[in-house]
Amino acid sequence: MHVVTKRNKIMIDIQNLSYTYPNMSEPTLRGIDLHIDDGEFVLLLGASGSGKSTLIQCLNGLVPKITGGNLEGEIVINGKDVRKYKVHQMASDVGIIFQNPDTQLFSLTVGKDVAFGPENLGMPKEEIVRRMDLAMRIVGMEDMRDRFVFTLSGGEKQRVAIAGTLAMEPHVMVLDEPTSDLDPVGTGEVLSLVRRLNQEKDMTIILIEHKIDEVVHLADRVVVMDQGKIIMDGTPDKIFTNGHDQLKSIGIALPQLSEIVHAMNNGFGDFEGALPTHSSYKTILARLCQLLRGKPTNIARFRTAHTPLTRTASKPKIEIKNLRHTFEDGTVGLDGINLVIPEGDFVALIGHNGAGKTTLINHLIGFLKPANGTIFINGRDISDMRVAALAQSVGYLFQNPDNQIFTDSVTQELKFGLENIKLRGTIIEERVNRAISMMELEEFRDRHPHSLSRGQRQRLAVASILAM
Ligand SMILES: Nc1ncnc2c1ncn2[C@@H]1O[C@H](COP(=O)(O)OP(=O)(O)OP(=O)(O)O)[C@@H](O)[C@H]1O
Ligand SMILES: [Mg+2]
Repeated sequence: MHVVTKRNKIMIDIQNLSYTYPNMSEPTLRGIDLHIDDGEFVLLLGASGSGKSTLIQCLNGLVPKITGGNLEGEIVINGKDVRKYKVHQMASDVGIIFQNPDTQLFSLTVGKDVAFGPENLGMPKEEIVRRMDLAMRIVGMEDMRDRFVFTLSGGEKQRVAIAGTLAMEPHVMVLDEPTSDLDPVGTGEVLSLVRRLNQEKDMTIILIEHKIDEVVHLADRVVVMDQGKIIMDGTPDKIFTNGHDQLKSIGIALPQLSEIVHAMNNGFGDFEGALPTHSSYKTILARLCQLLRGKPTNIARFRTAHTPLTRTASKPKIEIKNLRHTFEDGTVGLDGINLVIPEGDFVALIGHNGAGKTTLINHLIGFLKPANGTIFINGRDISDMRVAALAQSVGYLFQNPDNQIFTDSVTQELKFGLENIKLRGTIIEERVNRAISMMELEEFRDRHPHSLSRGQRQRLAVASILAM
C-alpha cells in the first residue's frame, strides 16, 4: 500500500444516489453512499449488471445528462456539484477510460490525439504543448508523438487514451475494464501505469477490473456492488477474508491467494502424480500439504477443473492447408498456416496482440478470403461458400460483443441470423426461446441491446450463436 500524502481531503462525495434509466420501472442504482479521499485507489467489484459502469458514469455527468432518466441524490467531485456542470466541464476533474481503446482515439497521430482535449478547451498553444509533453512522458511514449495511432499495439493505444485524459489534468482517473481487450503484455503496461499515477502523481483512482489477481495488491480499498447497491466497502484484506462466501455467492472471483488462505483455514487434502504446468492453486496447495505432511489424504473434492480431456482420435473437422493472407496495403497477415482440428477438440489459439489470431479465425467464417491456400470444414472446401451459409457450421463470438449487434431488441437480435438463413416462423420462435432461456435473458427480451451491461451483451452474443 502506498504512503498517503494528501488524504483527509474528500475527493468524491456521493450521498443517497439513486438512478433509474429512461423507460425502466426499477432503479439501477439504489441509495449509494460513497466517499473517496484524494489519492485513494479504489477497486470497484460487482457481478455483471450490478451497476458499476452506470455508477462511474454519474461521476462526470454522462448519466443522466446523456442517457436521460431520473437521478436523485448528491454527487460532489472535488467540491463541484456535478449536476451544475456540463459533461465536458467535468473533464478537468474526472477522466474516464473505457475498455476498448479504439473507441476513444479520434486523431491520426498520437500527439494530435493527446492534444485533442486541451485544444477543444481553447487553451493557448504553449499550454497545450506543455500538457501534451507531460502526459506523453508520464505514459512513457514521448518518442511516439508522430506515430500513426492505427500502428500501435492495444496496450500502447490504451496508454495514448490515458495520456489524452491526463492532458486534461484531472484529479480522478476512472478506468472501466481498461485491459479486457489487451494481451498480457498490454495489460501489464496499462496496470503499471495506473499504479504509477496513483503512487507518484497521487491521483485518485477508481478501477473496474476482472483480472483480480493482477490488481488486488494495487488497491487501498475494495468496494463491492450488488444489484445497484454497495454491499461491502473496506480494505482488500478485510473484504477477501471476511467476505469470501458472500463474494462467491454473488459471482465474484476471488484472488488466488485469498482462496489458498481460505482453503488452508478450512482444511484441505492431498494429491498424487505429477503436477501439470498449468496447475491451479488447489492442486499446488494439495501438493504442498503432501510434502509437508508426507501422507496423502483426501483431495477428491478439490479435483474439479483441469482434468485433461481424453478422446479417441476422430476425423478432421477443420483443415487448413498452406493458408496465406495479405492485407490491402500488402502486409502479410498470415503465412504458411497448416492446421488440422479434429471433431470435438477444444483448441486455445494464443499469441500477442497483432499476431494474427483474429485474421485466422475470420477466414473460418468467410469474412476474409485466402490469398493462397485452402480451408476445409467437414471435408468441404469453403472458398466459394458465403458467410450466411458458413454461419450454420461455424458460430463465431467476437471479442467485442458490440461488433455483432444489428437490431433494436434482444428478441429481434436472436431472430436476425435465423431469418437470414430463411427459417420459418415457428422454428424461429422455438430457437429464440430456447436461446433466451439457456442464457437467462428472459427479463431483457424487449430491451435494446445497447442498453444492456457489457456482460449481458456478451450473453446475448452467445445466445445468437446458440440459436443458429
Ligand atoms: N441505457 C440503459 N437503459 C436501461 N437499462 C440499462 C441501460 N444501461 C444499463 N442498463 C441496465 O443497468 C444495469 C447495470 O448496468 P451496468 O452497465 O452499470 O452494469 P455493470 O456492473 O457495469 O456490468 P458489466 O460487468 O456487465 O459491465 C443492467 O441491468 C443493465 O441492463
Ligand atoms: Mg460495465
